[in-house]
Parts: sequence; C-alpha cells; structure tokens
Amino acid sequence: MTLSLEVLNEVIRNRRSIFPPSYTGEEISMQEIEMILENANYAPTHRLTEPWRFTIFRGNGLHKLADFLGETYRNQTTPENFSEAKYDGTRQKALRSAAVIAINMELHPEKVPEWEELAAVACAVQNMWLTASALKIGSYWSTPGNLEQLGAFLELKPNEKCVGLFYMGRFDGATKPAVRKPIGDKLTWIED
Ligand SMILES: Cc1cc2nc3c(=O)[nH]c(=O)nc-3n(C[C@H](O)[C@H](O)[C@H](O)COP(=O)(O)O)c2cc1C
Repeated sequence: MTLSLEVLNEVIRNRRSIFPPSYTGEEISMQEIEMILENANYAPTHRLTEPWRFTIFRGNGLHKLADFLGETYRNQTTPENFSEAKYDGTRQKALRSAAVIAINMELHPEKVPEWEELAAVACAVQNMWLTASALKIGSYWSTPGNLEQLGAFLELKPNEKCVGLFYMGRFDGATKPAVRKPIGDKLTWIED
C-alpha cells in the first residue's frame, strides 16, 4: 500500500462538522455505512477491549429516534418553556439525516479504566468522521443532554453507556475552513 501523505493531510484537515439543516435528504448506501463502521473497528484499543458499540438508525428507525428525541424534549420541558419550533427542530435533526448512529461503549472495569474506553471510542468516532468526510458525507458527533434516557431507549446493558449520536447526511459539499488556534500555542518542547 502506498499511502499518500497529501491525501491523509487533506482528509484530516478538511473534515468538518456538518449539521442536519445542511443535509439534502439523499440516501447513503449500505456499503458506505458499512465502510464507515468497518473503519471504526480499526481504532486503537488498550488491552484490545474494543469497547465501541453502535446502534444504527435508518429508514423507519429514524422516525422512532425522532419520536424519542421529541418526546424527551417535551417531558423535560415545563409547559411554559415548551416551544413547538424547538420540538419540531429536535425531531427534524433525525428526520433530515440519512442515518444516525448511536455511539455506545461497553465497559470492562476489570481490565481498563472508563476513560480509556471513552478514548478508544473517540478514536473510533474520528475514523468514522474521516471516512464519512472522504465519502463526501456530512456528519457530526452530537452529545445531547439526555444520554441516560437515550441509553434506556437503546436498551443498553448495565455495563454499556451511550456517549452521543453520529448524524450523517449528504450535503452540497461546501465547507468552511477549520477554526483552530495555532498548534504552536499548545506545545511545550523539552530538548535539553
Ligand atoms: C465529543 C464531541 C462532542 C460534540 N458534541 C456536539 C454537540 O452536542 N453539538 C454540536 O453542535 N457539536 C458537537 N460537537 C462538534 C463540535 O462542535 C465541532 O467538532 C467543533 O465545532 C469544531 O468543528 P469541526 O468539527 O468542523 O472542526 C462535538 C464534538 C466532539 C468531539
């Protein structure tokens, strides 16, 4: 395999968070979703616990997710603070997506601390994000405030946790440049 550094740099540096309002509604093929998930599986993992677990919502599954998100918002909001527009916007995030992947982790407390499992899952999500980006699929990692309820909705086991939703959809391809302060501001060199 000859890995082009130019391609690697381009994929890493051009990956962006692309949000559901930009999604066109066009389908994402099963092969593309499988490639995204397959690459997740190559993330580094301490003691090979491979803690990443995924629940994939497509088709009618997206309606079930939209219903859950909408009703959770309704139940967590007092009647005077309830906004029909926010309720609808919450549902539309799922309904505008071609697929949504719940990001879950399986914990192995006898082997590694939880933060290492989370770190491995985050590496898996980065692999997914980069692959989606290379496939010109918009995506982003969302961490809603209702992760515990989401875990119950997903029927996770006691040793599993949900750490967010990975929204995906086709978009027009236009991206903004990354907003980052220079790496030089974040480094300490020790050389002698
Ligand atoms: C762990 C994690 C959780 C995130 N959660 C949210 C979120 O809940 N809502 C959101 O709008 N963006 C979320 N993001 C995306 C960030 O807002 C985004 O990465 C950041 O603005 C930088 O933009 P970029 O991804 O286009 O470089 C999350 C990113 C990470 C890594």
